[in-house]
Amino acid sequence: MSETGEWVDLVAADEVVPGVLTPVDLGVGSDRLELVVWRDRSGRPCVMDARCPHQWSYLGHEGVLDGDELVCASHFWRFGVDGRGTKVNVNGRRDVKADITVFPVAEVDGRIRAQVPVPPAPTPEV
Ligand code: FES
Repeated sequence: MSETGEWVDLVAADEVVPGVLTPVDLGVGSDRLELVVWRDRSGRPCVMDARCPHQWSYLGHEGVLDGDELVCASHFWRFGVDGRGTKVNVNGRRDVKADITVFPVAEVDGRIRAQVPVPPAPTPEV
């Protein structure tokens, strides 16, 4: 889990319902940070990198929630709310895959916030 950066307001808590992925983009250009916000079955929120560590699929479009895991529909890697990556083969064996970055999250006053890296300030034009 990434624990450096700044706490940033992302989305209204009632917009993030179980079973639905909510994409949130921060910043612009090369400093852009693409995130997905979702809840596990208990309602616990999760803020995760929106790019799959396998081949960079955008999970805001190619991610599917399956219980307490987000599944990348490109090649079916699965990620828990702790970011741990696995893949279940046709015989049910769960193999370890690369992890995905998850960010510290807080639900306060009806909003979901996360601690995310601060993008560098733009270079002033001269
Ligand atoms: S790009 Fe996500 S599993 Fe391959």
